[in-house]
Amino acid sequence: MTARLPAHTGPETRGLLADPLLHELGHGLGGPFHVLLPNAFDANAAAFLGVFAEAGVQGRVYYAKKANKAAVFAERAAVAGLGMDVASRGELREALDAGVRGEDLMVTGPAKADELLRVAVLQGALIAVDALDELDRLEAVARELDRKARALLRVLPPEQPHSRFGLDEREVTAALVRIGLSAVSLEGFSFHLSGYDVRQRADLAATLVRLCRRTRALGLPVDSVSIGGGFAVDYVGAEDWREFEETSRPEHFHAGKRFGGGFYPYHSPAAGADALRAILAAVPSGERVPLAEVLRTADVRLLVEPGRALLDQAGFTVFRVQGVKERDGYAILTVDGSSLSLSEQWFDSEFLPDPLLVPARAHADAPAGPYPSCVGAATCLESDLLTWRKIPFPKPPAVGDLLVYLNTAGYQMDSNESPFHELPLPLKVVVEPASDRFRWHLDRRPA
Ligand SMILES: Cc1ncc(COP(=O)(O)O)c(C=O)c1O
Repeated sequence: MTARLPAHTGPETRGLLADPLLHELGHGLGGPFHVLLPNAFDANAAAFLGVFAEAGVQGRVYYAKKANKAAVFAERAAVAGLGMDVASRGELREALDAGVRGEDLMVTGPAKADELLRVAVLQGALIAVDALDELDRLEAVARELDRKARALLRVLPPEQPHSRFGLDEREVTAALVRIGLSAVSLEGFSFHLSGYDVRQRADLAATLVRLCRRTRALGLPVDSVSIGGGFAVDYVGAEDWREFEETSRPEHFHAGKRFGGGFYPYHSPAAGADALRAILAAVPSGERVPLAEVLRTADVRLLVEPGRALLDQAGFTVFRVQGVKERDGYAILTVDGSSLSLSEQWFDSEFLPDPLLVPARAHADAPAGPYPSCVGAATCLESDLLTWRKIPFPKPPAVGDLLVYLNTAGYQMDSNESPFHELPLPLKVVVEPASDRFRWHLDRRPA
């Protein structure tokens, strides 16, 4: 039997799980839905800003918009004074619509289209240049508009030399020569690392601070280093995660499924704003003082682009159990949606925290569980499972029960969503506490 992986929950989630509103929404919306909890987003934003204040470091938080398409989080980011990391024209448009000012945008992503560059220059956005040919196109766009383009040079992390993003050392040198004479105004350097390593981020940040010093000596007044995103989210407890990792076997999954992509590290001792605190407190290699002091001494601003971490506890996803089929020693549940609303399958992986059953009726007479069950989608695809793992539910799942996947706001909800089979896309419902009850509205109300 697979280990249990109970998900951490915030107080609003716990309140909602015990509230009749959830079944009411299921009934009223007639399909799967995502619950968005913007108060949790606000708290995460305040925590990131608080870390900069506490460390006495000039910093800027850019919410990585790609992590969730909801309007409410973009609006809350604008109100909290965050910038926004956008990687497409659609995201840029949404950011402006939410109230983020052009100068507070950071445009990332590879080989940005000329149209995106044009709008970014007109808006006064900061543009993370990913390649030399992109720098040439940015230069041409800025000249044509007779404007200065604000830019960072994104570097290829030496620890991740096979990344397809960023400029290597030779390209950075070539870029600095070109920028000296151009319509591009360089403000600094950036990187984004895969994984969640604190030390790698502190080391590379300090390397880029030293690069800022050398670039200033060339007459370019750079003052910013962006360390990208990759602030972990702590989904499950340390002990549960250790047990899962030690005991997990293919037979714990439907059809003995193995995942080529491995799993997200669902437990993380330094997560979210605490990870930023740890990065600032780390003494980078080649330095004698913590990164915070390295930045202060060099008068360099630290930019961060968290996506997932700003959405920690800011939402969950609700499906309705549509069928229960018994197999040898476990059940196959079918829910009224698909794995495209739980995007981890994209990475040949699985969203592992245990979903919760919210029963439609009391199970007073059911013998004590567990009732291991995997979770299939309402589609014709053999491989469309939301959960291959045989979750040990404490009660027998029944048709009409709600199945709640917790803490899904960061990337899970909509990165892969598709109306395959003409299934409706799950609606997004914003829920907030109001005195003695919860109030809700759809994320996108008619304008
Ligand atoms: C350039 C860049 N910045 C920020 C992020 C956000 O990362 P995370 O959601 O892990 O914080 C990403 C994610 O892919 C990215 O590519």
